[in-house]
Amino acid sequence: MTEKKTLKLPPRVAPTADAPSRKPARPGAQQADHARKTGAAASGGKRPDAEAERAPRVFGERKADDRGGRGRDSRDGFSHTGRRPAAVSSRGTGSGGVVAASNTLRPNQFDWTAIQQYYAPCPRGLEQLLADELANLGAQDIDVKEGGVGFRGLIDLMYLANLHSRIASRILLRLDERAYRSEADLYRLGTRTDWPALFNVERTIKVSVTAQRSNLRSLDFIALKVKDAVCDIFRDACGERPSVDTHAPDVRIHIFMTDRLATLYIDTSGESLFKRGYRQESVDAPLRENLAAGLLLLSGWNGHEALHDPMCGSGTFLIEAAQIALGLAPGRLRRFGFEGLSGFDAQKWDGYREQARGAARETLSAPITGRDRDAVAVESARHNLVAAGLDHLVDVQQGDLRDTEQAPAAEGVLIANPPYGVRLEELDALAEFYPELGNVLKQQFSGWRAWLLTGDLRLPKLIRLTPSRRLPIYNGALDCRFYEFKLVAGSNR
Ligand SMILES: C[S@@+](CC[C@H](N)C(=O)[O-])C[C@H]1O[C@@H](n2cnc3c(N)ncnc32)[C@H](O)[C@@H]1O
Repeated sequence: MTEKKTLKLPPRVAPTADAPSRKPARPGAQQADHARKTGAAASGGKRPDAEAERAPRVFGERKADDRGGRGRDSRDGFSHTGRRPAAVSSRGTGSGGVVAASNTLRPNQFDWTAIQQYYAPCPRGLEQLLADELANLGAQDIDVKEGGVGFRGLIDLMYLANLHSRIASRILLRLDERAYRSEADLYRLGTRTDWPALFNVERTIKVSVTAQRSNLRSLDFIALKVKDAVCDIFRDACGERPSVDTHAPDVRIHIFMTDRLATLYIDTSGESLFKRGYRQESVDAPLRENLAAGLLLLSGWNGHEALHDPMCGSGTFLIEAAQIALGLAPGRLRRFGFEGLSGFDAQKWDGYREQARGAARETLSAPITGRDRDAVAVESARHNLVAAGLDHLVDVQQGDLRDTEQAPAAEGVLIANPPYGVRLEELDALAEFYPELGNVLKQQFSGWRAWLLTGDLRLPKLIRLTPSRRLPIYNGALDCRFYEFKLVAGSNR
């Protein structure tokens, strides 16, 4: 078990217009207050984060009087009394962490047969493509947001979206949502889900948090509170708690917070969907697979035209292009988080995979080729092609694009993300390289459409071509442009 031991100081709740007027208590103060009320020993003066992974707890409060009780949890050394924990008051006080000693928790049941609400994050700039993709898979109530798409559908859609989406980074299944003011509210949110009905206590968990304009200061502390809530629900149900694994958890739980609303998700994908399962070798700055697939689709390449990447690096464009052309499901080579959930229907899943296999084609109708001047990059691309089962279909050669003597076909789509620079000397080298790139495009690729992804806004001017399209795209945090240049004969400015 790997528990997170170092946490930031617990946050204070900054007062908001409609927040309670009294000064909100820090969790440490809440603990002392609770100790006064219950007669329990408080961890007075200690940082609650230092206490967090050592003290036993009863629903949101760490109670020193549990120490040394029966029912030691063998995996984390926590001791607990074995009695049924008290329930969290549904009323609360606004100061957080208040425990009512009477009711037993009755978390919401998850209905595997109901229509579910999902959210799929994706690279910014690809939201509409993702929405179209999800609509094709049968998603309803599609809601395009910046950086992702909300949608609804049966649990079957979870299998299909994970298996077939080329653009989504994850498929998150919404479990619950509530307004919040304090960390205690987030703890309560975590106690409203019947976790033992979703996965076995033997599964390891990780809780992550993202926030937009939240007044709560420490996302780590929120993650800790929600993790506590999950563990407390398990303890209540079966006397055991799941272990935390921050590196390769079986189950990922995600909280998304706006300034007043917190949404609780279970991540049905597990590892990010851009990890297709074929990347064996890598080079510097490989493109994420879902971004590469999205750019191919944005370019309008139809799978029946030649495709060439003259600076292919680890071959991401080439592999994604071949998968698109053959209709291969991007998730066919990997496992998913939902396979560890209790409602996982292996027979249904096998059926969907089988269906996808049956629909795939075996041969390309136009060549897909790549080139890179770096021998390591070429080797990496070839390894990845082998892992994807596509090495017999895609040709990669070592060579400098400036030495290109003939395009691989009379027309087609050239796509690449050229090297980019940060330091001055790199920028100077690129300023020399771009005109040469422009010359090769004009001289060797007339009749083609070239699409280049770059964060370097000097590129069109320096390659001396006028872009016919200029699409804003984020490559991670990097603000980029995806330029199209139509290379007709004599296409100089
Ligand atoms: C940003 S990387 C491309 C990454 C690639 N799209 C991937 O996903 O792995 C740029 C690549 O351009 C290659 N390159 C740079 N200058 C080149 C040139 N003159 N001819 C051919 N390849 C070049 C580099 O070796 C590097 O692999």
